[in-house]
Amino acid sequence: MKNREQINSQISKLEEKYKDSGQDLSSYLDGLLHQRYLTYWDYIHLDTLLSLQVPRTHFPDEEIFIMYHQITELYFKLILHEQKQLVDDKSDDVNFFAEKLRRINSYYTVLISSFGIMIKGMEREQFLQYRMALLPASGFQSAQFRMIEIYATGLENLVHVSERNQFSKADSIEQLYEHIYWKKGATDLSTGEKTLTLKQFEYRYTPRLIRIAKQVKEATIYHKYLGLSKSQKKDTDLIEALKALDVNANVNWQLMHMGSAHRYLRKDTGDIDATGGTNWKEYLPPSFQKIVFFPEIYTEDELNNWGKQWVDHMFNPDKSKH
Ligand code: HEM
Repeated sequence: MKNREQINSQISKLEEKYKDSGQDLSSYLDGLLHQRYLTYWDYIHLDTLLSLQVPRTHFPDEEIFIMYHQITELYFKLILHEQKQLVDDKSDDVNFFAEKLRRINSYYTVLISSFGIMIKGMEREQFLQYRMALLPASGFQSAQFRMIEIYATGLENLVHVSERNQFSKADSIEQLYEHIYWKKGATDLSTGEKTLTLKQFEYRYTPRLIRIAKQVKEATIYHKYLGLSKSQKKDTDLIEALKALDVNANVNWQLMHMGSAHRYLRKDTGDIDATGGTNWKEYLPPSFQKIVFFPEIYTEDELNNWGKQWVDHMFNPDKSKH
């Protein structure tokens, strides 16, 4: 009886809902009658998802390479999902801010700890062969990776370190974008010629990246922090979470990623060219890139030594022990 009353009340509410939008409830109830039950595989589009791993060679390990890139892109999407909510949020709620950062950091933690799948999980001999079929594609062309940076901080903080002090937020987005650090990384310094990897990326994504940079101008995650009151800015949980994000995104992920470049591309007699054509040993180290999303929260010393310990460890393992 109680159940019947509940159903009657639900039908009344439905009638009201559909009447309000000029719809006929009875027709929708027919639809409900004929609708198939939802399954797990339809809900998450499993068949589509599992059909997206399409190797270009017959080397079995290439599938690991594809899948791990795809997994990473999905995590990048989760990170952007949280970043967008932060940028859209107009409250000054420090707990909300810290909670979103905590989620982002938890995604980075997974990415950093799982990178062994790349470093140890493939045969070098296979890698060096199937990568030749992937030229000139490179993870360098990950647009989500670049979007994460643009949502995190002002474009002036992403200018190449060699000329960062010549630019400020007063410069136009277009000008700052032209001097963004990764463009230099994929340009032949002697001829000024851009690599094909970079040219293709620019052609495909420049309008979109510029649009996002304009949309979040003075409204990035860093600006959200800068706009807090004096006391809120001192919140230790918040500062710790911001520092963790900076180190995760700009040192620790880079560290693990560069570990894979070392494993596959380093040779006793000269290094193997990167697929994207960069001089990767000079481009990838975090202490050379010096990308810092939230400079205000560090001391001068911390900024000067950004990621340095790691480079010492990688290039001069003996020296870094002392
Ligand atoms: C065996 C594994 C890997 C190797 C050897 C490798 C190697 C490289 C190299 C040499 C570069 C410099 C650009 C170039 O010349 O191509 C690069 C850039 C990059 N790769 Fe990878 N990579 C690996 C895995 C990954 C994975 C799994 C991702 C995930 C999406 C990724 C994302 C990136 C990104 C975002 C950059 C640009 C980094 C920056 O601008 O600081 N890579 N990679």
